[in-house]
Amino acid sequence: MTPSHLRLGVNIDHVATVRNARGGLSPDPVRAAREALAAGADGITAHLREDRRHISDADLEGLSALLREQAQPLNLEMAVTQEMLDIALVHRPHAVCLVPEKREERTTEGGLDVAGGHNWITPVVARLNDAGSRVSLFIGADPAQIDAAHRTGAAVVELHTGAYCDAVREGHADRAEVELRALQAGATRATALGLEVHAGHGIDYDTVAAVAAIPEVMELNIGHFLIGEAIFVGLGPAIARMRGLMDAARGLEPAS
Ligand code: PXP
Repeated sequence: MTPSHLRLGVNIDHVATVRNARGGLSPDPVRAAREALAAGADGITAHLREDRRHISDADLEGLSALLREQAQPLNLEMAVTQEMLDIALVHRPHAVCLVPEKREERTTEGGLDVAGGHNWITPVVARLNDAGSRVSLFIGADPAQIDAAHRTGAAVVELHTGAYCDAVREGHADRAEVELRALQAGATRATALGLEVHAGHGIDYDTVAAVAAIPEVMELNIGHFLIGEAIFVGLGPAIARMRGLMDAARGLEPAS
């Protein structure tokens, strides 16, 4: 497979987390989205959670307007619920990534159980497809989940990179290797079924290269680490460095 441009979706949820620590308007996730696009993000990702712990309905309005104005893709992450489906059908974002959601979790801890929940996920995928949103299912790199994702009619799977990234950070080289192989095999399997492959969760400067080097992966969605780095170097430089690492892993010349 020839190396191709790997898209970077920047998840700006945690700008809203910082804002919500105090209430008020600052820092503004819509401003962060604008700066991320100016710095080379290929799209913006935001997760509207059932408990609205970070992104709010008003943020989603603002993000939808910004991305429409800039003709750039908005990827809305959401749980498979009637409330979220109704919201997505109003906004009709470019992409919707269906994720599992538990109130007590700190972040999206595992992938969707598509194999177990096939019957309730499929009609939601169909409604979103009909509305013109490109549907992605956030799953572990497990063959049964990939095959089930394909049967739902979704166009995309986003492979959960959290276990790989945790293994690297914790210094477990053997486990990291196993997780990386699973991601590689999952990307190959999904592509053979005609699914587009995205990847994300927990990616930082140390883990991005191995994931970006998987040729079938077309998009990475990265949030928490970039927003954290932005505190030290600014959002633009953090994104530019991530972009550079992605391009290098893909064997592409850095943009001048
Ligand atoms: N992709 C999905 C589906 C997610 O749920 C998240 C976390 O919201 C991410 C990517 C980004 O993960 P992180 O914030 O750890 O980079």
